[in-house]
Amino acid sequence: MEKAFDYLNRYIDDGSVIGMGSGSTIEKYLPAMKKHIEKNGLKVSFLSTSLKTEKALKRLNLEVIFDAESVDVAIDGADQFNDECIAVKGGGGSLLREKQIDYFSGKIILIAHMNKKVEDFNKVPIPVEVNKYLYKITQRVIEETDASTEMRKEDGGLFVTDNDNYIIDCTYENISDLSELQQKLLNIPGVVETGIFDRYIEEIVSFDEQTFEILK
Ligand code: A5P
Repeated sequence: MEKAFDYLNRYIDDGSVIGMGSGSTIEKYLPAMKKHIEKNGLKVSFLSTSLKTEKALKRLNLEVIFDAESVDVAIDGADQFNDECIAVKGGGGSLLREKQIDYFSGKIILIAHMNKKVEDFNKVPIPVEVNKYLYKITQRVIEETDASTEMRKEDGGLFVTDNDNYIIDCTYENISDLSELQQKLLNIPGVVETGIFDRYIEEIVSFDEQTFEILK
């Protein structure tokens, strides 16, 4: 993992605006990145994809900004990915800001354990963020896309995102076209965003305990 983190550090340049992702892998990466910044005396600003990452960045005395003219690169985790650099994200519930920051950067570098690689996204839970208002109807309409759905829960209640929305985890027996599915879901009123990341992923740094490889 350390070697993979060293590799990621090549994207942290002086004066850059970095979109920083969420999740346990990113949390582990942050101290390695901080060392790199200190060692090379870099000035870097961060847009954070979640409140949790924002706190972690601030704890390391790194500068968090809340808007930018542009994002140089986004570094993020993934829940599943395939050979074609398509990923499903949002396992931690941060998909909306991840999608905003990652897509605005237009250059996404993902880091994920090799065991998250899949042949296809059949039976993989796809998180869909929905507005709280009328969420039960939204859920029913989502099911018309052949999804089995489950409201995400936390501490005995429904999970609430950083943006005050709910998450519905959707699984499909057989997805013929992931991008088409994404469009169908986004067309449903009340659907705010999906965890399907099918564009702009430049590289996936996949690692195991010994080594890492780059998927382009
Ligand atoms: C957060 O909502 C997610 O999109 C994460 O990027 C993803 O779940 C990867 O998280 P881990 O690194 O914890 O597996």
